[in-house]
Amino acid sequence: MNQKLPIHIAIIMDGNGRWAADRNLPRIAGHRAGVDAVRRVVEDCTRFKIPYLTLFAFSTENWNRPQSEVGGLMVLLDQYLKKELRTLMKNNVRLSTIGQIDDLPANVRQTLRDVVEQSAVNDGLNLTLALSYSGRDDILEAVRRVATAVQKGDLTPDAIEPDTFSSFLHTDGMPDPDLLIRTSGEQRISNFLLWQIAYTEFYVTDKLWPDFESVDLLDAIKVFNSRERRFGKTSEQIRGEDT
Ligand code: IPE
Ligand code: IPE
Ligand code: MG
Repeated sequence: MNQKLPIHIAIIMDGNGRWAADRNLPRIAGHRAGVDAVRRVVEDCTRFKIPYLTLFAFSTENWNRPQSEVGGLMVLLDQYLKKELRTLMKNNVRLSTIGQIDDLPANVRQTLRDVVEQSAVNDGLNLTLALSYSGRDDILEAVRRVATAVQKGDLTPDAIEPDTFSSFLHTDGMPDPDLLIRTSGEQRISNFLLWQIAYTEFYVTDKLWPDFESVDLLDAIKVFNSRERRFGKTSEQIRGEDT
C-alpha cells in the first residue's frame, strides 16, 4: 500500500445491537460477531504496520445497559483476551488499556493484567482497549492530579503546557489519533477521547461494526489520505511545506 499510513487509528465500534436485530438475534449475538471484527481489524493493523490502534469497547455510560447485556459483554471480553493471547504474542501486539479498569469484574481485571504483562515485551502494534472509559472522566482525573501536583509544589500553574496536561491523561505516551473511525452511521463522539481528538480526521461509515472488513479499513485509510490536514494554516502554506 503506497499511501501515507495513519500512526494512530481510533475506532468507535458501534452497531452490534442493530446487526443482531436485523437478524432477529439477541443483542449478545451482535457483540459476539463484533469480537470477530475486532480480531480482523487487529490482524489488519498488524499487517499494515499501523503503530497504534485504540478501540472503544465499553463506555462508562454502557454500565447503564441491562445487567444481562453488561454481564454478557464482560464474559466476551474475558474470553476474547484468553483466546487471543497466543495470537497477540505471535503478532507482536502489545496490549494496554485506558478507562476505569477498577470498575471491571475481578476475573476480567486479572485476565487483563496477565495479557498486559505478558505482551509488554512486544514492540509491534500498540493495541489499546478503552474499557469503562469516559473522555470527560479522563480530563477530570487529570485536572485533579494536576491540582494535587500544584498543591504539593511539584508543578507551577505557568508550567502547565498542552504536553504537560496530556501526560496526565490515560493516553500518556501515545500520539493523538490521526484517524477516528465510527461505524453504524452515528455522527457523535459519545464521550470517547475528547482532548486527544483536537485535530483528528473523522471517518464515519454506515457499515455496522460486525460487518466492518479489511476493505472498509482500507477505504478509511484511503479517505484519510485524500484529506488535507491544515492544522489552522492555509492550503497554500501546507502545499508549500510539502514541496
Ligand atoms: C457497540 O454496539 C458495542 C458497545 C457499545 C458495547 P451497540 O451495542 O451500541 O450497538 P447498537 O448501537 O445498539 O446497534
Ligand atoms: C459508544 O457506543 C461506545 C462504544 C462503542 C463502546 P454507544 O452505542 O454506547 O453510543 P451512543 O449511546 O449511541 O452514543
Ligand atoms: Mg450503539
